[in-house]
Amino acid sequence: MGFNSGGATIEDLKSQINIVDVIGRVVPLKRAGANYKGVCPFHNEKTPSFVVSEQKQIFTCFGCGATGDVIEFTKRYYNLDFGEAVEKLAKEHGIELKIAGSGGNQEREKYYEVNKEAARFFYRAFTEGKNAGYTYMKKRGIEDAILKKFGIGYADESWDSLYQYFRAKGVEEKILLELGLISEKNGKYYDKFRNRVIFPIINTSGKVIGFGGRAIGDAMPKYLNSPENKIFQKKNNIYALNTTKQDVGKEGYAILVEGYMDVISLYQGGVRNVGASLGTALTENQAKLLKRYTRNVILSYDADAAGQAAAVRGLEVLSAEDIKVKVLHVTDGKDPDEYIKKNGKEAFLKLVSGALPMIDYKLNAAKRELDLSTEDGKIDYIKKASEILRKVSPASADIYIKKLSHDLKIAEGAIRMEILGNNNNVAETIHVRKNNAETESVQYINNLEATLLKVLLVNPYFSEKMLEYQEVFESDSGRKVLNLMFEKYGLSGTFELSDIMDNLEPEESKLLTETLDGIIVAGNEEQVFDECIKKWKLNQAVKKEQELINRLSLADEETSSEAIKQLTGELMQVQKEINSFGGRK
Ligand code: UTP
Ligand code: MN
Repeated sequence: MGFNSGGATIEDLKSQINIVDVIGRVVPLKRAGANYKGVCPFHNEKTPSFVVSEQKQIFTCFGCGATGDVIEFTKRYYNLDFGEAVEKLAKEHGIELKIAGSGGNQEREKYYEVNKEAARFFYRAFTEGKNAGYTYMKKRGIEDAILKKFGIGYADESWDSLYQYFRAKGVEEKILLELGLISEKNGKYYDKFRNRVIFPIINTSGKVIGFGGRAIGDAMPKYLNSPENKIFQKKNNIYALNTTKQDVGKEGYAILVEGYMDVISLYQGGVRNVGASLGTALTENQAKLLKRYTRNVILSYDADAAGQAAAVRGLEVLSAEDIKVKVLHVTDGKDPDEYIKKNGKEAFLKLVSGALPMIDYKLNAAKRELDLSTEDGKIDYIKKASEILRKVSPASADIYIKKLSHDLKIAEGAIRMEILGNNNNVAETIHVRKNNAETESVQYINNLEATLLKVLLVNPYFSEKMLEYQEVFESDSGRKVLNLMFEKYGLSGTFELSDIMDNLEPEESKLLTETLDGIIVAGNEEQVFDECIKKWKLNQAVKKEQELINRLSLADEETSSEAIKQLTGELMQVQKEINSFGGRK
């Protein structure tokens, strides 16, 4: 059996699942140093000798010798064969696998092979003889050894040298087109990357999955990246982690930057535990990938507004994966690349040690726009701070309440009351969350959104039901598509895929087709729609429950019993709701 295009591969599947979560659900695990320990489910024992390594994503029993990865565990524990185990895991984690006839893997290998050959071709152009790419990188101050380390290459100015090279080798155009190495116009093929410095993107298994090409002149875009395809999904990868993962392990934390050049300059400057999120907003899968190597991340994005907004979003995504995050602000130059070139390693490491943890960073950002010397400024700050603290664990909130009380000379009790708030504040929270979602730009359509879009596509009539639940859509792309559907439906009472596609950028429509292709709902729209909404409501209720619990545990002697009664009532209501949905999954 093989797995192909639209869906995830076994590798993708494994990178999106944490073995500790899967095993932890059926075997009570306790942290033991870097690992987790429990009683082996595969043989009879009293003292735990069953160890799960989060970093390696494997389990091992020192009693009976059982060992393997998450798939192996699922096979054994649930008595399944390989295919069944993979299916079970995919289903439980909402991952779409597409099952192909056979040879899916061989096909992928072929793609990797072609990319590797292309990387070699670019590398030779860069290293053999004078070329604009090498001159450019030297001008940017990068040493030969570093250029070699990252496999930097050059795509020459000719229209089709790479294409001709592959043609002579008999490589099919179809593959080259799909990998985004060539494009076609009027029956002729052209190289996609021309007169650009090439940054090969290599995954942690060492496969060349794509390329970034930096314009040497002022060609647009500044960076041209491989399109999303069978073997390249931006959202699943971190640039340079293949080279730097050992350094990340050694240092105990990773520095995450925006760009290729940030990585390379930091690396050359001696800061090697670094990777780049490839210019996108950081995704859940990227966070999960990082988590394999460390639980501590420093976000060092560009100093501009876009970079700072991306940092806030990154904070959320990483903390949701239980990663400790701090944000570093470069104080000189526009990005880490410029900073380290000007100021050197020691100065950069100083910024690292001065990086702010999530809560401080958010509080600081809130403070920046306000004048704390005035009464109004203080009150506004407390309001904003309360919004922030309402979402953190009670223990952390407590620490910050004390700090705030001290700094602002406002009674702790008053701050607690503000955080406990009333119903209006809950509405406000939701409002704030929505606004954030808009500015922070969630780029990728999630599973829930994709499934609902598919339902609407199969049966546009569901647009009417959907109107009520627009809030479900959190991603920019998802909302954009949904609004297009609403618009078309409003005009003509129906729509087709082509109506939507016509209004999207080529990249977007390609991504949408790929996303929707693997989802089958025909004939089941009603049921699928209801399930999606139910799942969303359950998620909302669980979030609300956590918020209420946090707020309740912040109450102290000074909190009025009225407020506590109110919150307890709400909590019971939410818990009833959760149970009515069949409980937490
Ligand atoms: P920047 O524009 O900050 O790039 O985008 P940079 O690394 O500072 O560029 P230099 O120093 O001028 O060469 C950050 C990252 O966003 C992605 C790339 O991954 C880039 O490294 N990006 C940016 C693109 O993919 N396309 C673009 O057109 C621009
Ligand atoms: Mn930059």
